[in-house]
Amino acid sequence: MPVEISRVEARDVEAFLRRNEREALKTLFNFSVVWHEQRHDFAALDGEDVVGIATIRIAASLAHVEQVIVLPGRRLAGAGRSLLDRAAEVANYYNCHKMSAMVPYRSSAQQFLERCGYKEEAVLPQHTFKLDVAAMRKFLL
Ligand SMILES: CC(C)(COP(=O)(O)OP(=O)(O)OC[C@H]1O[C@@H](n2cnc3c(N)ncnc32)[C@H](O)[C@@H]1OP(=O)(O)O)[C@@H](O)C(=O)NCCC(=O)NCCS
Repeated sequence: MPVEISRVEARDVEAFLRRNEREALKTLFNFSVVWHEQRHDFAALDGEDVVGIATIRIAASLAHVEQVIVLPGRRLAGAGRSLLDRAAEVANYYNCHKMSAMVPYRSSAQQFLERCGYKEEAVLPQHTFKLDVAAMRKFLL
């Protein structure tokens, strides 16, 4: 029977997910999955001044680095690395086996991640803004 596809509100999808996601995840991964997402935020502080931030999202034993930003005048002094290190400690505490991040291929952000122990895992052609993107990772265990 044909269906009609319609734009809906997020709450309509959420109600559907509450009823059906457990079965769908079990079918997808072929084992019983408890999907629990968390977000953790970090700041690099100089006194009360925030000179940098990092945000990670943890799900399925992976910790994804969503953001790492250090103020231009405070770069190259170790704050970015310290933010990633603290994020990795928290990820480790929550039993993550791996950190991941996506950055423009061969960018300075990729060099920064490589200096912090991340490896290039894949290159996604014509991805964000149609640019090639490097999928970076660091194993924690
Ligand atoms: C990338 C960024 C977070 C780095 O922060 P930072 O505080 O300057 O980094 P650190 O001082 O901790 O540097 C850690 C290592 O990375 C290297 N590094 C940092 N920035 C680099 C750059 N632009 N190019 C090459 N290497 C770099 C440092 O030399 C250092 O290596 P070393 O200790 O082996 O000598 C910062 O430049 C920034 O906010 N950039 C704009 C946003 C961005 O690109 N975010 C990254 C997303 S993953």
